[in-house]
Amino acid sequence: MIDNKKVLFSGMQATGNLTLGNYLGALKNWVTLADDYLTFYCVVDLHSITVRQDPAELRKRARNLLMLYIAAGIDPQKNCIYYQSHVSGHSELAWMLNCYTYVGELNRMTQFKDKAAKHADNINAGLLTYPVLMAADILLYQADVVPVGIDQKQHLELTRNIAERFNSIYGDVFTVPDIYLGKAGRKIMSLQDPSRKMSKSDENPNASIYLMDDKDTIIRKFKRAVTDSVGEINYTDEQPGIKNLLDIYCSCTGKDTEAAVSEFSGCGYGDFKLAVGEAVASELIPLQQRFEELSKDKAYVDSVIKENAEKASYYAEKTMRKVRKKIGFPERIR
Ligand code: TRP
Repeated sequence: MIDNKKVLFSGMQATGNLTLGNYLGALKNWVTLADDYLTFYCVVDLHSITVRQDPAELRKRARNLLMLYIAAGIDPQKNCIYYQSHVSGHSELAWMLNCYTYVGELNRMTQFKDKAAKHADNINAGLLTYPVLMAADILLYQADVVPVGIDQKQHLELTRNIAERFNSIYGDVFTVPDIYLGKAGRKIMSLQDPSRKMSKSDENPNASIYLMDDKDTIIRKFKRAVTDSVGEINYTDEQPGIKNLLDIYCSCTGKDTEAAVSEFSGCGYGDFKLAVGEAVASELIPLQQRFEELSKDKAYVDSVIKENAEKASYYAEKTMRKVRKKIGFPERIR
């Protein structure tokens, strides 16, 4: 709790092209949370270097992600939107928390095992301690809730364990965070294989809608979306392709599932796919326009970056003073 508001923290990595799945599953739902929470939305650029990055590319992607947060409607006046690398508390706390985390715990993380298998030539220590940096992100702001996808649940549980372990030694230093499940976005599946999540790392470009796809591309990808031979529009697990298209349609239009099913009853798959494509385009085109405007307004974006980094640092430093003192580091002389 800060100023009588619960704190909410989340972050995204600036790697890969964000997809409609990232938007409908996360970003879009973040927009209104500032009404109820003190919100921190971080571009977690420090996390990105567990795999090699081209410096210019990393810088560009991080800025694009930050602008995308704003373009998606997250108001930087009401939400703290900032780069992880601009607040040194993240790295500092991560180092300290490393000393309260067991290698055995980190070895058990499924994401580490997956990534180590994928990057067998670069299993660096950062890949192993990645979840500790994530714990630092969250605990630094005394976050009460963290909206994340199911794939990050294990990391969040580790964060809770680290916080509880630290608190049991030093007293109540950290808020133990909960996973945020309220108003969760629908899980968006691949357009080419509706049994798999829509992923920014999918090699098949037709499987995903990228947030910067133009209207023609969006419509074309929906026309090619894999469905079934039932020929009827129902919301059922037996028809995962149609179900996914209905989820996408409802997320974009705000309609509920029942209304959508009756709207398309008797409609052919071709027309249905076109309607879904149109709905997605009318959601994404304004976002793309705002993104374009922001790209041209360097001064404004720079001011957001500066002000929010200062705001985040203020809260981070509060926690760090407490942590340094509790652990036993000498007081800083002013
Ligand atoms: N690990 C998260 C992911 O890959 C990103 C992330 C980093 C994060 N730090 C965080 C998410 C803190 C929530 C809270 O999706």
